[in-house]
Amino acid sequence: MFENSPTSFWRDIAKEQSTTSVHQDLSSEVVVVGAGITGVLTALLLAEQGKQVMLVEAARLGTGTTGYTTAKVSAQHGVVYAELLESFGKEKARLYYEANMEAIQFLSDQVNAFGIECDLEPQDAYMYAESSEGTVEQLVQEERAYKTIGIDGEDATNEVNHKLPYPVKKAIVMRNQLQFHPVKYLQGLMERFIELGGTFYEMTRVSDLEYGTPNRLKTEAGHTISTDDVVIATHYPFNDFKGVYFSKMEVERSYVVSAEVPSSDFPEGMYISIDSPSRSLRHVKMENGNKLALFGGENHTSGQKEQTRMCYENLGVFANRYFGVESFTHHWSAQDLITLDHVPYIGQMTKDTPHVYVATGFSKWGMSQGIIASRLITDLVMGRKNRYEALYDPSRSKSKLSDIKQFVKTNADVAKEFVKGKVHSSDKTLDDLGFDEGSLIDHEGDQVAAYRDKDGHISMVGSTCTHLGCTVSWNQAERSWDCPCHGSRFKPNGEVIEGPAVKNLPQK
Ligand SMILES: Cc1cc2nc3c(=O)[nH]c(=O)nc-3n(C[C@H](O)[C@H](O)[C@H](O)COP(=O)(O)OP(=O)(O)OC[C@H]3O[C@@H](n4cnc5c(N)ncnc54)[C@H](O)[C@@H]3O)c2cc1C
Ligand code: FES
Repeated sequence: MFENSPTSFWRDIAKEQSTTSVHQDLSSEVVVVGAGITGVLTALLLAEQGKQVMLVEAARLGTGTTGYTTAKVSAQHGVVYAELLESFGKEKARLYYEANMEAIQFLSDQVNAFGIECDLEPQDAYMYAESSEGTVEQLVQEERAYKTIGIDGEDATNEVNHKLPYPVKKAIVMRNQLQFHPVKYLQGLMERFIELGGTFYEMTRVSDLEYGTPNRLKTEAGHTISTDDVVIATHYPFNDFKGVYFSKMEVERSYVVSAEVPSSDFPEGMYISIDSPSRSLRHVKMENGNKLALFGGENHTSGQKEQTRMCYENLGVFANRYFGVESFTHHWSAQDLITLDHVPYIGQMTKDTPHVYVATGFSKWGMSQGIIASRLITDLVMGRKNRYEALYDPSRSKSKLSDIKQFVKTNADVAKEFVKGKVHSSDKTLDDLGFDEGSLIDHEGDQVAAYRDKDGHISMVGSTCTHLGCTVSWNQAERSWDCPCHGSRFKPNGEVIEGPAVKNLPQK
């Protein structure tokens, strides 16, 4: 059922505009790299402050994770508040909540003020546990944390049991959160950015950054862009040359399937379960009165699962069992970056690189936190104080025991993947490869990443990730080579899809 190439509903209906890429050396007061929610909004906010801003994107507007999200804009981020309370204390946990609630208000005000048509609407956000006592206890603790921190939320177990077609053991709610169409939103921001004199270059991958005055960005095609201030909004920072970031983030892939259903068959509200496997639900109201229901979940560490089509199948089975869905309009997946303490890294990239800013590690909640990042970085570039600076500071220490344990585990997992890729030689050869199948094969004594497409055409590329040398693995559903270490992804012909790698896998 999910054999076609994945496409997201958001990207499917988004109108493409003409594109211009960088063909010569250029300069600008500020350069923002990456046109997802973080990059586009940062570029716009800085242009509104009178800065000369250039936005540079490797692919097209909103083709990164922002084009493949579920686009709930909420301060309810899983069971994060109990954890924040324990690790950061009440004041900072409260600050995290306020930052996200402010972002929600900002989005609502901005969309109304500029008439951005992006299907923004308020929805209550529900989080529930349906199966194990352990997850019920986690929700009880989260509800307690809400009370301690002063979060506007409450028990909603009965309510959710009336709304969902299966029983839950415990649920809590935050009222009046938001959902929207993320690509329409980006297009609205872009129109305003261009009106204010901003420049936008697409199909231009930045592959290097030389720090200095000015900073010099190098494009893949060999051009230089000079600038005073750089904002790295590339999801995974491509310029993590000192390895500061990749050692403290994990990359997790998750999946969404969508189906058109009669409006009464799918409840109002946005839902997320904290069970395993987790489930995420929301809808889009359609012009014909039906709803487009979105079913998400099936998370796993990127590059560490080959039978990825099963993830879509499992969501399909869930949608069929509980909502009677038999056919699906779209299916898509994407990955997000999880920090050690689940708080994103937003601010100056490293202590010794002033004027270079980064926003990453949104830990699956990059809609509200991308907005927080854009506003915070705008303040930093403009030399203004921002009360969330210390909370999100990328250089904050990982002194808590849980962070240190997670740091050790993350890096041990990477080391394990690195070694595994080197010691396992492939027992397959080209002759064993079926149609539409990718695998590591033994080719003239070398381990090679090979794919035979539906028409029998074969692509063979090097199997060593160009970031730090882990061995890539085949992602069957997306038809890509994915790196299990830090999430770089490559097309069957070796071209980079997403970083941190900036160099293609070599042809074999
Ligand atoms: C399945 C899924 C569902 C999610 N659902 C939600 C949700 O409901 N609510 C929520 O809050 N969050 C959600 N998230 C998380 C959220 O979508 C992301 O955190 C957010 O979209 C990240 O935005 P971004 O702008 O940082 O990155 P992106 O949208 O990935 O944008 C980065 C851009 O940078 C470009 N780029 C990369 N490298 C370079 C380079 N070297 N040169 C030039 N350009 C480059 C990329 O092409 C890309 O366009 C979800 C994530 C997933 C995976
Ligand atoms: S992404 Fe880091 S080694 Fe591949």
